[in-house]
Amino acid sequence: MTRRTRVLGVGSFVPDRIVTNDDLTQWMDTSDEWIRTRSGIEQRHWVEPDDTTTSDLGLEAANRALDAAGLSIDDIDMLIVATLSPDHEFPGTACFLQAKLGCPGIPAIDVRQQCSGFVYGMAQADMFVRGAMADTVLLVGAEIHSKAMDISTEGRDISVLFGDGAGAAVLQAVDVDDPSTQAHIYSSHLHADGNYAKELWIEGPSSTYSPNRWDNDFLERGAQWPKMNGKTVFKHAVTRMPEVALEALEANDFAVADVDLWIFHQANMRINYFAAKKLGIDDDDKVFNTIQRFGNTTAATIPIGLDEALKAGRLEPGMLVCIAAFGSGFTWASSLLRW
Ligand code: UT7
Repeated sequence: MTRRTRVLGVGSFVPDRIVTNDDLTQWMDTSDEWIRTRSGIEQRHWVEPDDTTTSDLGLEAANRALDAAGLSIDDIDMLIVATLSPDHEFPGTACFLQAKLGCPGIPAIDVRQQCSGFVYGMAQADMFVRGAMADTVLLVGAEIHSKAMDISTEGRDISVLFGDGAGAAVLQAVDVDDPSTQAHIYSSHLHADGNYAKELWIEGPSSTYSPNRWDNDFLERGAQWPKMNGKTVFKHAVTRMPEVALEALEANDFAVADVDLWIFHQANMRINYFAAKKLGIDDDDKVFNTIQRFGNTTAATIPIGLDEALKAGRLEPGMLVCIAAFGSGFTWASSLLRW
């Protein structure tokens, strides 16, 4: 018997407010047709313009994952939160979420790997469990993008793509005799290349500036908004995502055709189309996409995808599931799971 980690339950949450592509035209020069054809997105959910925080969304998703796992917060001995839109610069969002969940004392860890954050978090949870530092880990990916984007025409290349939302998974230690049938994580594979850090980033506030973390024309310059070189990101995503997915399969002696369900990061439907083509996935139904309804929720796309696939009856016990992500950093990562 080998000590491994399995996903015991997942949950997700998006705010009620739906923003359609047509809705966006009131703020910027764009169109439903451009957004659909370039990205596949039809709508996204944004929080109301109130005091809702990222950890509030994370709390809802976490509670749903706990319910799905049949556990209470008292059963959790580690909390990991992946986000690029933290409640505050510090302390980490995991600390804010921990206070809301009511689990003081356990480790609370922030993961800052953007779109790959949830997969990085899954790898960390798996290693903490395998190393017996934790038995049951609550892993959350949560984002509020709508409060941190330039929704004028100048920022439209980014602001039409991103949505708010959260997803969570409860991961627990399991003794595995038969990996071909028992639910567990086979392995995770993590990569980054910081040479591309400024291809998708937010310039400030930053320690670059002196004596403060902002300078005089900070807001005028729009240094607080995310900036992206979309074509470069696209080009790397369609290479790195299939590459890292294949790495997970090869590490465990599986072929592409063995995978029952692919959950890719949701940045662009065209990226996922090219990734599937490169991998030679023969059946479109094996790729589960949610970008049409939620846009890109960065660290939350993978757990939202898992939860939505479950709700849609597309994810069943015993399935071989490959998850893969690519994003800002650049970072890219994959995990292979027996569900
Ligand atoms: O999860 C993080 C990772 N992020 C990604 O993976 C995103 C990767 N990149 C992409 O998905 C695509 O590059 C985009 C969807 C962002 C853009 O698609 P594109 O086919 O690369 O378009 P483009 O940037 O080349 O822009 C084409 C045209 C430009 O106009 P001109 O210069 O041809 O006149 C843009 O100004 O489309 C214009 N444009 C828009 N038009 C209407 C850019 N954004 C918009 C918009 N609405 N929202």
